[in-house]
Amino acid sequence: MCGIVGYSGSRKASDVILDSLRRLEYRGYDSAGMVIVNGRLEMHKEKGELKALESILPDIEGITGIGHTRWATCGAPSRDNAHPFMSNDRSLALVHNGIIENYIPLRNSLISEGAAFYSETDTEVLVHLIRKYHQGDLHAAVRRALEDVRGTYAIAVVEEHSPDIVVARKENPLVLGSGVGENFVASDVTALLEYTSDVLYLMDGETAIVTPGAIRIFDAGGAAVEREVSKIDWSLEEARKGGFEHYMLKEIYEQPHSITETIISYIDDLENLEILPSRPITGMKILACGTSYNAGLVGKYIIEEMAGISVQVELASEFRYSTKTNQCPLVVLITQSGETADTLAACREAKLRGCHTLAITNVVGSSITREADTILLTRAGPEISVAATKTYTAQLVSLYMLASLLAYNNRSLGEEGLRAMKKDLRSLPNYVSAVLDRASSLRDAAKMFKEARSAFFIGRNRNFPTMLEGALKLKEISYIHAEGYAAGELKHGPLALLDEKTPLVASCLNDHTYDKMMSNVSEVAARGSPVLLLAEDDDADCETVADLVIRMPPVKPLFTPVTLAVALQLLAYHVAKERGMPIDKPRNLAKSVTVE
Ligand code: F6R
Repeated sequence: MCGIVGYSGSRKASDVILDSLRRLEYRGYDSAGMVIVNGRLEMHKEKGELKALESILPDIEGITGIGHTRWATCGAPSRDNAHPFMSNDRSLALVHNGIIENYIPLRNSLISEGAAFYSETDTEVLVHLIRKYHQGDLHAAVRRALEDVRGTYAIAVVEEHSPDIVVARKENPLVLGSGVGENFVASDVTALLEYTSDVLYLMDGETAIVTPGAIRIFDAGGAAVEREVSKIDWSLEEARKGGFEHYMLKEIYEQPHSITETIISYIDDLENLEILPSRPITGMKILACGTSYNAGLVGKYIIEEMAGISVQVELASEFRYSTKTNQCPLVVLITQSGETADTLAACREAKLRGCHTLAITNVVGSSITREADTILLTRAGPEISVAATKTYTAQLVSLYMLASLLAYNNRSLGEEGLRAMKKDLRSLPNYVSAVLDRASSLRDAAKMFKEARSAFFIGRNRNFPTMLEGALKLKEISYIHAEGYAAGELKHGPLALLDEKTPLVASCLNDHTYDKMMSNVSEVAARGSPVLLLAEDDDADCETVADLVIRMPPVKPLFTPVTLAVALQLLAYHVAKERGMPIDKPRNLAKSVTVE
């Protein structure tokens, strides 16, 4: 995830910035850079680790500057795409976290007005736009430029000959550190802790001017805002986790943001996305491992429902053994890391078989991005906890977008339907937030599993793979044996394992599977297993068969795999916590599996 730092004071700014950037390294990055105000703007940036930037950095005197670590999203990891970016006259420089949704039309119009661009990034439009509106007041120019922008951002801007740093934020974090005769800017308090524990949080839509002697904050209308200083007494490790006890919990709570970022980078122009082969897609395969495989299974239900295209989902590790005669116009590889050896091998095999390969991945520049024909990027940011959470829901929303594109192309979805789908996807983060707001009920439900040795998860239709994912999350971090089943399968064997010590988790949402789910749950309840039901707010009947009901916010049935997944992640987290497990680093597991 990109990191921003800024300094205005009396120390050597390059030292403070380098040091603060080091504290953001844990977030992951692929390039870094800084601009120091030193009579003129002196910019240095480099691909790779901070060591690479440090090795090219001359001795710079300036006492104001901004810096950035970049996690590539729009444009490959490279020196040219690294931040900061400068205006063509070298009078302004800027760093940015987030996504500028409408950067293509903005870029085209700025080019027609004479601006020269040197990167593939969405960010570069911002610096040219601010320069265009700059008539002697940087703060006014930033505010005016942001009126033209759609997207999310945290930015810090400096200009030559001035100690001021102008900052702004929308849906991306930014904090301001207050010192004596010096002030700081950062995307994350970890960057500031060495220098100050007094911070001011910038709110959505606000801007601020940071100088050595003052921090002035303004609301969206430009009126001055009084903001109280907050004292941070976190250790560095606590700060990295943003006050959460574990990275996994932090990442679960990041999902409204990571889903938004994944959606907005594609949604506007979804129908023109060039990721599919030109030949007709009569059938397709999805190949992946683990959690990504479960996302693929959800994708199958969604694509078949929306586009009427038959989808086979195969474990990437088994693909090589499947029939070679079955040519397929499209093979989708899902891998958050982009480095899973089995998925990479499956990608090569699919290419040998003449298929178009489309990779859904979270890491720009990863091996899969070099091997697949086309890429659909999830923009969840780096995931530190071994258990995948925010990358899973980002994969799901990518699959909704892919399903919409396939359905639009084969006319299963018309203009009106596509518009409605885009609207629904944009509002999906609100439903995820609604699940997070109910987290305490999942914490309480976790007690049911404290002593369990085994647990079962059941669902039907598109919620069946979600229950597989719920079981996978529980087993990997709580070490409880857990199985997911299509609810109809229980009576064909697994029912023999259910007893009063084996809890059952069932999704019983208000869709066409409700009645059948209720009878499957009743069969289990009759055998004395404790039943935890995930049911919607207005469902009174479910209380009769359940020991405990978790209330889910009502959402269109197509999207329940997302909201249910978040609830099951929270359940697994709290069960593991109840049992005192090492949640972020479960035994025997690695974040990226690079052996076949
Ligand atoms: C489980 C988990 C793993 C991964 C699997 C594939 O929480 O993270 O099951 O999903 O190892 O990894 P990627 O998606 O990187 O190919």
